[in-house]
Amino acid sequence: MNNMTQQKATNVVWHDGEVTRADRFNRLGQKGATLWFTGLSGSGKSTIAVALEKALHRLGKLSYRLDGDNIRLGINKNLGFSAEDRTENIRRIGEISKLYCDTGIITLNSFISPYREDRDQVRRLHEEGGYNFIEVHVDCALEEAEKRDPKGLYKKARAGEIKNFTGIDDPYEAPVNPEITLHTDQMTLEQEIDIILDYLRKHKYVILYR
Ligand code: ADX
Repeated sequence: MNNMTQQKATNVVWHDGEVTRADRFNRLGQKGATLWFTGLSGSGKSTIAVALEKALHRLGKLSYRLDGDNIRLGINKNLGFSAEDRTENIRRIGEISKLYCDTGIITLNSFISPYREDRDQVRRLHEEGGYNFIEVHVDCALEEAEKRDPKGLYKKARAGEIKNFTGIDDPYEAPVNPEITLHTDQMTLEQEIDIILDYLRKHKYVILYR
């Protein structure tokens, strides 16, 4: 356990309200759940989350996107890309997603989240709380992600201008048993969204409450 995960405050106890999780889910007509998109920079995580958010909205489902770049401009602005900082980045997002789940919102998380143990930790956090965690491996060959290079960062990393860049001089640990795998170097965005929506329909318990 590192010092970021240790309970520091003492004399604190959980305080329950009188509106229950079930009350909130009933009010929204859906259950909270987390879809966790993991993959290389440029693999398509954020693009998929944006399209899925639109599709869910059309279906009358409330979802919200948490995105690596956005979060790193706000609550996680004090974190960089060392292994420790990436772990803390994912830990905080895991806790935030759990709060969203508790409200009944479907959270769409797009983070490289390169370490298997960090993602598994978020999964455990959700499962212990009784929330669904759906890991989506946004699987794209490095050569393709590098060819796309939407932010020009691979070029900089190859030139040595960015250190510890995932896939270049920093590791990416692919999920072993993700709920969904999307080969974004071989599929269209429409196919990818269909696969996710099919999964959600098949596993009705995930979000469709009524
Ligand atoms: S994570 O590894 O901690 O999950 P996160 O998804 O929040 O990463 O942020 C990744 C984004 O930060 C990338 O899409 C890219 O735009 C930017 N970035 C800047 N430096 C790096 C780096 N060294 N490695 C990976 N991404 C980086």
